Amino acid sequence: MIVHVLYNTSSQNISDSQIVSQILVLNEDFNATNGDLNLVPSEFTDNIGNTEIEFSLSQIIRKQTSRTSFGTNDDIKFNSQGGSDVISPQTYLNIWVGNIGGGILGYAQFPGGSSSTDGVVIGTNYFGTNGTATSPFDKGRTGTHEVGHWLNLRHIWGDGRCNRDDFVSDTPKSDRPNYGCPNYPTSHCRSADMTMNYMDYTNDACMQMFSIGQKDRMRALFVEGGARDSFYAP
Ligand code: ARG
Ligand code: ZN
Ligand code: CA
Repeated sequence: MIVHVLYNTSSQNISDSQIVSQILVLNEDFNATNGDLNLVPSEFTDNIGNTEIEFSLSQIIRKQTSRTSFGTNDDIKFNSQGGSDVISPQTYLNIWVGNIGGGILGYAQFPGGSSSTDGVVIGTNYFGTNGTATSPFDKGRTGTHEVGHWLNLRHIWGDGRCNRDDFVSDTPKSDRPNYGCPNYPTSHCRSADMTMNYMDYTNDACMQMFSIGQKDRMRALFVEGGARDSFYAP
C-alpha cells in the first residue's frame, strides 16, 4: 500500500509509528488475529471470517498543504487541489490521511470506480492507534471499515429498512446503524444485530469481526476476472 500524509499543521504530519500501527490493525483484523476477537458473542463465533488478506507498506508520501480540510469530494487525491496524486492504483491500495472535516471519520471508493480516485481516505484523528488517534476511534477500525468498503462490503444494515440487504447472507438483517457500544443482544428486524461487525457504526473498541460471507465477497474480487484481480494474490 501507499500512504499519503497531507498535513497543514506539523502535528498533522503523523509519525511512521502511527502509520505502522494502522497496518498492524489491518493485518490483525483481516486475519482474525485481533486480540479482542474473544468479545464476539457465542451466537456469532461460527460466523467469524478470516479473509487471509495481508497488507504491507510500500511507500509513504508526505506533503504539506495549504488546505485546512478536504471534504469528501476527492480533492485530497489530486496534486492540483492541494492533495496528492494516486500511485499505481492497479497494484497498490492508496490510503490518504488528512483532515476531512465535518466530523467524517473516513470514506472509500468501491471496486469498479475511476482509477484516479481509487483507495480510501481516513481522517488524521481516526488513523492508527497512537499519535493523533482520538478515542473512541483510536483502535484503527476506521481503516478496517474503509478497506472493507474498498473490498466491496456494504454497511451491515444495507443502508435501508429490514428488506434492504448488504448482499451477504450470514449478516443478520437490520434497519439501522448501531452507535457507541451496544449491549448484546440488540435486536432489529426480528434478530440480534451483528453490532460487533466492522461494517456497523459502533465504536472502535466494540467491533471485532468480519463474517464468512463478507470474507467470500471480498475474496471474490481477487479471482481471475475479478475487480481487483491485478493485486497480488498467492
Ligand atoms: N462513517 C464512516 C463510513 O461510513 C466510518 C465509520 C467507521 N467507524 C468506526 N468505528 N471507526 O465509512
Ligand atoms: Zn462506511
Ligand atoms: Ca445480510
